[in-house]
Amino acid sequence: MARNRSKLNEHWSSKWAFIFAAAGSAIGLGNIWKFPYITGANGGGAFVLIYLLCVLLIGIPILIAEIYIGRLGDDNPVDGMLNIIKNNKLSRLWVAIGWLAVIGSFLILSYYCVIAGWTLDYTVKSINGAFTHMTPMGIDNMFTALLAHPAKLIFYFTIFIALTGYILSQGISKGIEKAIFVLFPVLLIILIALVIYAIDTGFFVAGLKFLFQPDFSKINASSVLTAMGHAFFTLSLGMGAMMMYGAYLPKKYSIPQAAAWIAFIDTAIALLSGLAIFPIVFAHGLDAGAGPGLIFKTLPLAFAKLPYGHLFASLFFIMLAIAALTSTISLLEPSIAFLLKRTKLKRVQATMLACAATWIVGLCSLLSFNLLANVKFFMGTFFNNIDYLTTNMMLPTNAFLISLFVVWGIKRKHVQQDLMMTNVLHNIWYNVIKYFSPLAIIIVLISTIAS
Ligand code: PHE
Repeated sequence: MARNRSKLNEHWSSKWAFIFAAAGSAIGLGNIWKFPYITGANGGGAFVLIYLLCVLLIGIPILIAEIYIGRLGDDNPVDGMLNIIKNNKLSRLWVAIGWLAVIGSFLILSYYCVIAGWTLDYTVKSINGAFTHMTPMGIDNMFTALLAHPAKLIFYFTIFIALTGYILSQGISKGIEKAIFVLFPVLLIILIALVIYAIDTGFFVAGLKFLFQPDFSKINASSVLTAMGHAFFTLSLGMGAMMMYGAYLPKKYSIPQAAAWIAFIDTAIALLSGLAIFPIVFAHGLDAGAGPGLIFKTLPLAFAKLPYGHLFASLFFIMLAIAALTSTISLLEPSIAFLLKRTKLKRVQATMLACAATWIVGLCSLLSFNLLANVKFFMGTFFNNIDYLTTNMMLPTNAFLISLFVVWGIKRKHVQQDLMMTNVLHNIWYNVIKYFSPLAIIIVLISTIAS
């Protein structure tokens, strides 16, 4: 194995390039698809409050730790960990963090691109006005028909992987940065337009109340676990994306400051998505607690009945696809950087290889909705298993290991110097990451396994 090539040869060209790329990773299907439906399913306000606390108290501290480890390693997650291990004479077992990161990001990517493919199909459908005059039954059938159509799913899934690969084949500044500086503003403009549109439905206050008026009677232990799990997922923690992006961050930039920005932008986008979606749903007396179908069934139905619904439905699905794309690029980069280091491949070739591998594994998830729907083991279909394994197991496990590693692996003196925090902030962060985060994650993990 060729592990002698020099360190990474590209870095972010500015602090904001990093912040927006990382925020782009964080903003994804998690914000626009998952956050609204789990909020709906968990009764609204109180759940949002718990979720915000989870982001603040556990999410941001681990985000700081993960970006820091990435930068310290100065390479893809696996070789980065090996670098830190060598320089600090630590146990080689810590390299597990790197492997979980590279394998986890690859596995998440494989099924994430399947759902991202649905967003492309819905974009085309909405542009063609397919939702206009549709009955609830009709819209329901439309979704079921899509999932039952492997060829169509494969088509959009392949396009999505190809788009991701194309951007990454261009490298960091010409690829990721250039893409993000176009995609992010477009996403933001569409989202703001949708919120204004939602205000116009006359149900904006109902949406506001639903999101921000806490009703704790609707909360139980499982809502708290869902909120915590989602805080990790939405901040892209534990899966190598933030480690990898951190590795491209020049030493002169402050990590805590960047992490605060990333978490702020990510949370703001999730809340704005809720503010766009719920009033539109309420305007038609539809159910906010519809679960995963909220975006692909309830929302198209609502758009179908609203003035200019055709236009705004199209904008909505374009926005969803963009959000997914800025996440998939962060999920594929760790695999590419790993291949670049360990083989003699050029970036374009490494990208093609990583895309091909993603396509093959993703195909099994894609077929879980149709041809392989009856093939069930452990948690259900292949898709169910891979989602469970990555989101519920690998992600919290790695977040746990990362918090242990910054405390027990690296000397506190060095951490404090590198992170450039004031004493007070450093003490708070250090104690959270030493006691609170690992404890909270262990509770989540044990209850997930127990249930
Ligand atoms: N944060 C992304 C989202 O909310 C998903 C993601 C998870 C991306 C892990 C990268 C790593 O959709």
